[in-house]
Amino acid sequence: MKSLLLLFASLFSLCIAQTFEDAYSDLESYNLRTIYITENGPKLTVVTDQAKVISRRGANATLPCRFHRTPSAGPNPKLRIKWTKLTADYLREVDVFVAMGYHKRSYGKFHGRVHLQGDGDNDASLVINDLTLEDYGRYKCEVIDALEDGTAVVSLDLQGVVFPYFPRFGRYNMNFHDAEKACVDQDAVVASFDQLYDAWRAGMDWCNAGWLSDGSVQYPITKPREPCGGRNTVPGVRTYGKRNKDKHRYDVFCFTSNYNGRFYYMGRPGKLTYDEAVATCQRDGAEIAKVGQMYAAWKLLGFDRCDAGWLADGSVRYPISRPRRRCSPDEAAVRFSGFPDRKHKLYGVYCFKRDE
Ligand SMILES: *[C@@H]1O[C@H](CO)[C@@H](O)[C@H](O)[C@H]1NC(C)=O
Repeated sequence: MKSLLLLFASLFSLCIAQTFEDAYSDLESYNLRTIYITENGPKLTVVTDQAKVISRRGANATLPCRFHRTPSAGPNPKLRIKWTKLTADYLREVDVFVAMGYHKRSYGKFHGRVHLQGDGDNDASLVINDLTLEDYGRYKCEVIDALEDGTAVVSLDLQGVVFPYFPRFGRYNMNFHDAEKACVDQDAVVASFDQLYDAWRAGMDWCNAGWLSDGSVQYPITKPREPCGGRNTVPGVRTYGKRNKDKHRYDVFCFTSNYNGRFYYMGRPGKLTYDEAVATCQRDGAEIAKVGQMYAAWKLLGFDRCDAGWLADGSVRYPISRPRRRCSPDEAAVRFSGFPDRKHKLYGVYCFKRDE
């Protein structure tokens, strides 16, 4: 209604200034201009030929993005290419990289690790070097050409493994912030929903609820049974929804990817206390391994060893990728023997030596 009134008002003023025919032809040319723009479609399109890129920690990844401008558009020295990262809960965008002509800028943890691929005039693809676990996620490529603006989204997926985790002081003891720290301490990050979902599709079944990176709490069930939601329920990733990150306490699902180093067992000649285990690795120029490193060795390298060994968090575990009698007979798994008394002299140790 308002716009109609406005139209009358402007028509009226035009009528005062000019003859009605003149005013009409002004309107007509205005309409023609509108049609002209519509028929030519948008002047700028931004596309990616790969909506998902799969890489791994330590590698370099290229996130593809190209833009097309109408051929008649002259060069625009102020054309801007901007990459941002979408956060797990989609509430914010994190600046990654901006380029305008020769001016380039990278931000935060991406500083010094990102550049444009620069494959021709219309390439906006971003190269990220030395990928970290935190780089996982969705990235937005945005091209701004004067008044035109186009975007494309590319997901960066990392090859890796999801594992459930709770610390020495027991089950359902971590708020979200504790959970974030617990994963980092195990050379991992809090898993995303998509990562847990993929793990569930690959057969993961775990009956304790854990935090995910979006602040939700969920657990994957492939074999419905009584204590895990009921026998008559369908398999799936069960959710408690978003929980209070400060107040509520659960376990966590962590995610880790490839590492640059060597994971190995040391046990002979004798069995070790926890302190002896730590010292044994140190004498070898290594450090006692973290839970995430055992999972990565097991899942990504097929590591198999039927000897229980200490890990840095004080837990005792062993990785089995070839199930056999006395060594996880029913499934390939990282077996967990608990958090024993650190003075018990019953176990070997798993060490990790980082590559130089
Ligand atoms: C990543 O790129 C850098 C710089 O181009 C190169 O030195 C390095 O070897 C690459 N890393 C891998 C794992 O390919």
